[in-house]
Amino acid sequence: MDLEHAKRVGIQAAYSGAKALRDRFGHISQIGQKGAFDLVTEADTASEKIIIQTIRNAFPDHAILAEESGVNHGNSEFLWFIDPLDGTTNYAHQLPIFSIAIALAIRDQMMLGLVLNPMDGELFAAVSGKGATLNNTPIRVSETTSVHKSLLVTGFPYDFSEIIEPVMKRFSVCQDSSQGVRRLGSAALDICYVACGRFDAFWEQNLKPWDKAAAAVIATEAGAVITDFANRPFAIDQKEILVSNGAIHQEMLSLLELSD
Ligand code: IPD
Ligand code: CA
Ligand code: CA
Repeated sequence: MDLEHAKRVGIQAAYSGAKALRDRFGHISQIGQKGAFDLVTEADTASEKIIIQTIRNAFPDHAILAEESGVNHGNSEFLWFIDPLDGTTNYAHQLPIFSIAIALAIRDQMMLGLVLNPMDGELFAAVSGKGATLNNTPIRVSETTSVHKSLLVTGFPYDFSEIIEPVMKRFSVCQDSSQGVRRLGSAALDICYVACGRFDAFWEQNLKPWDKAAAAVIATEAGAVITDFANRPFAIDQKEILVSNGAIHQEMLSLLELSD
């Protein structure tokens, strides 16, 4: 498999999706709901359609797992993960913090990750083993060595009424121990911002595979450490995710541990 070719196709798909999102930004007439808070807009669907079309044209046999249309298996050892709009709530409120995330796994190994912010044009990209870039310039995680000197970011699952206590407890402990905790609303961007050193760590519960697949490749290639809250190595179907610059990982794990 020529991963550079796959990367070019993925980037073309991301830019096509980005145009669909920009064209509709501020003009959404219908906002649907998948759950109590889980929004879906016509922009989600339009972006996903053009991304899938672009990938299908180049790789008709590949399998695709896309947020809005689900899984399209095929018989392939190649699986694309697509989040056509990560940060739907921001998008629906015309807040320009959202992204498109596209990843490719080969025989269950994450090989390629692309995250694009359609509004500011920042494109994060990584091929496994080849490093990570932001608009073609190599990126690295921060060198901050303590949480006390760190800026952190987290996200809240849409439906978190059942886990509100642990979510708020962790938020408050981390806020207390750091220079601040941000909540931007696009997990893919949150993780990429750890990858390029803007944030020192990110954590969230209940993310879906398409929220994190692409950004996980980018963060790993930029030197980040990714585990769950019990320090088990990253796996795409884990319930919890902690991404850090490595140096503060242990300290973050102990803060996220709940002692009740
Ligand atoms: C959501 C965003 C958000 C995170 C949620 C995700 P969506 O994805 O990544 O930051 O907190 O858990 O579901 O629905 O906007 O694609
Ligand atoms: Ca998402
Ligand atoms: Ca989405």
